[in-house]
Amino acid sequence: MHRVVWLTDLHLNHCDDEVVDQLFLNVNSEKPDSIWISGDFSESFQLLRYLRWIDHVFDCPVYFVLGNHDFYFASIQMVRDQVSELCSQKKGLVYLSESAAIPIGSDSCLIGHDGWSDGRLGDYERSVVMMHDYTTINDLAGLGKLDRWTVLKRLGDEAAAFLKIALEKAIEQYAHVYVMTHVPPTRGSCWHNGAISDDQWAPHFTCKAVGDVITQTLRHHDEKSVTVLCGHTHGEGVSNPKNNLQIITGGAVYGKPMITKVFEVE
Ligand SMILES: [Fe+2]
Ligand SMILES: [Fe+2]
Repeated sequence: MHRVVWLTDLHLNHCDDEVVDQLFLNVNSEKPDSIWISGDFSESFQLLRYLRWIDHVFDCPVYFVLGNHDFYFASIQMVRDQVSELCSQKKGLVYLSESAAIPIGSDSCLIGHDGWSDGRLGDYERSVVMMHDYTTINDLAGLGKLDRWTVLKRLGDEAAAFLKIALEKAIEQYAHVYVMTHVPPTRGSCWHNGAISDDQWAPHFTCKAVGDVITQTLRHHDEKSVTVLCGHTHGEGVSNPKNNLQIITGGAVYGKPMITKVFEVE
């Protein structure tokens, strides 16, 4: 059995170091074989500090993706490059957006990518939601609504292209594939306050491109199964769009980082 502690949307910059210390103690007390973190650690200025801290405090591997907040006040590529550089020095930190499948247990594996809300579900054109992303991430700041949509779709497509290759390979080799990504990949997994997000919010909280890749790949593999672990909406929920596909969205509260789920993989 492989014991996993999954965390999401910690937003560690919203709390004191003592709270972070306590969270890490709680994680260690679960005696995990690996720790999975699905993004929104903090914001770009503090991200490397927290990743170094995580590397220092845990003995087991930490597999993670980044969330939109991790890019605040920087460019996406700059943050990804910095994280990549750090992971090349810290073997216990594995950034899934640039990693091959990680074997977990006897016949499962883990793949992942940051993902990005691509504005394709809900009603982007009529949505009046203005995410902080659109003013604080260099790639998006200063763009008009339609030009921003073009970038959002490109970012979603990049995530989908990476996961398509990774998932097609993984599903040939393993009976079960875990996919970790920050952004819910379907409308049905876009939970907020116990309900599915409406047309105003869904464009900013889902990555349709990634969802399409997962469902299309599974179409040819009825005998295999996929579990998606995501966050971003801060609303917890579980959806089962197909018999062999489960999507678990982790909840979160700013200032109160917590363990999302502890589970074992055979
Ligand atoms: Fe978040
Ligand atoms: Fe997020």
